[in-house]
Amino acid sequence: MKIARFSRIGFILAAAGSAVGLGNIWKFPYIAGESGGGAFVLIYLVTVLLIGFSILISEMLIGYMGRKDGVSSFESLAPKHKNIWKFAGFQSVTGLFIMTFYSVVIGWILHYIVTSTTSLPSSIQEAESTFTTMLYSDISTQLFYHTLVFLIITYILTKGIKGGIQRLNLLLMPTLMIIILGMFAYATTLDAFSQSLEFMFAPKWDKIDSGVFITAIGHAFFTLSLGMGAILTYSASMPKNSNLVQNAIWITLLDTVIAIIAGLMLFTFLYEYGSSPAKGPGLVFISLPTVFFEMGIIGNFFAILFFIALAFAGLTSAVSLVEPMIEYFIDRFKWSRLRASVSMGLFFYLFGIVALLSNTDAYKELLSFGSRNFFDWMDHIATSIMLPLAGLVMALFIGFAVEKQRVESIVKHQFGVVAFKVWYFSLRYITPVAMILLLLSLLEII
Ligand code: PHE
Ligand code: NA
Repeated sequence: MKIARFSRIGFILAAAGSAVGLGNIWKFPYIAGESGGGAFVLIYLVTVLLIGFSILISEMLIGYMGRKDGVSSFESLAPKHKNIWKFAGFQSVTGLFIMTFYSVVIGWILHYIVTSTTSLPSSIQEAESTFTTMLYSDISTQLFYHTLVFLIITYILTKGIKGGIQRLNLLLMPTLMIIILGMFAYATTLDAFSQSLEFMFAPKWDKIDSGVFITAIGHAFFTLSLGMGAILTYSASMPKNSNLVQNAIWITLLDTVIAIIAGLMLFTFLYEYGSSPAKGPGLVFISLPTVFFEMGIIGNFFAILFFIALAFAGLTSAVSLVEPMIEYFIDRFKWSRLRASVSMGLFFYLFGIVALLSNTDAYKELLSFGSRNFFDWMDHIATSIMLPLAGLVMALFIGFAVEKQRVESIVKHQFGVVAFKVWYFSLRYITPVAMILLLLSLLEII
């Protein structure tokens, strides 16, 4: 298939739209809160820098050089061993796993847009009980919004990746950032801000076990949209002579800064209202509306605006989660875009319903397996196993399967000689070793 080219800014917008999402504002604060803060955050930051950034460039390279879908690009770049490397394309499936819970969370956000028009919780206790009531017992509301999310996303997908959503995002991404920065500025004036800073940055090593490591590394992949074909697919449409290294620096910086600022702001509000960061998946829904309430009627306005912008951040990421599978079916099986979009949409819609129900009191028992419910299993399998596994495969692919001169000719002058050497070395040795250790520790072998 001939893939239409993005413009330079078009690529950055699409890639940043994919990276910046619920991972930054919903998930990062909640898992940092549950993992004890500082030490987790430090491991996360180091992983983003050492592993995430270098895999980001590798994944971009595979798309940029291969110019095809997530399976065919591997084949065409390693023609001698294409029957082995095509299995690297397994990663495109991960997006559907992620979508089963991601779509449910976007549904919560749509629900919060609507409730923000009329009422905001007057205390953190009220905010908490509103959220948990929805999560544990309000099946019909969640199903309604989940269905809406399915319809919206499937509609966007049928329009293709360069459709209107990226243009809308041009407006809504800055809106989200302005609101977050504004709320952050307000947070810095509160007494609780120093507490929040300490929680975020002072490492408490006694809180660290292998589970925290795995969560942090998995999240580094998740937040940068790595290891499931999204960046690869978008990079296949990157214009010629793009500076991959520069693009990767911008995306990594933007994504990381937004997560840290969102986390600091939300923790501050939680402390300020006598709560704590260990609030679970409801964190952003519990802490922010309480602050908006304090602002009076203008608070409703900001709450609506915030949740709309957040929904868009989630939607642009969601589109990128499903797009690799869609392109695969269009490329390989000559499906129409409509057919591919509806099929993938139905897939995440139906499994999403299972994820949704697995949180509720009524079905929790039925839909829990071992230590986790279905919702958390999907997150765990995708984020902690499949994304790092794909990272390992891509590091080996660029490090060993693609000829060095080809890689050099593209990124060496973008990196500079020394940085190129460090990057290449880390791809060949450091990243694979780290990922293998991680995967072994998941199997509880070490
Ligand atoms: N990076 C997105 C986020 O932080 C989630 C995502 C993961 C999107 C993987 C695409 C691929 O919300
Ligand atoms: Na992200």
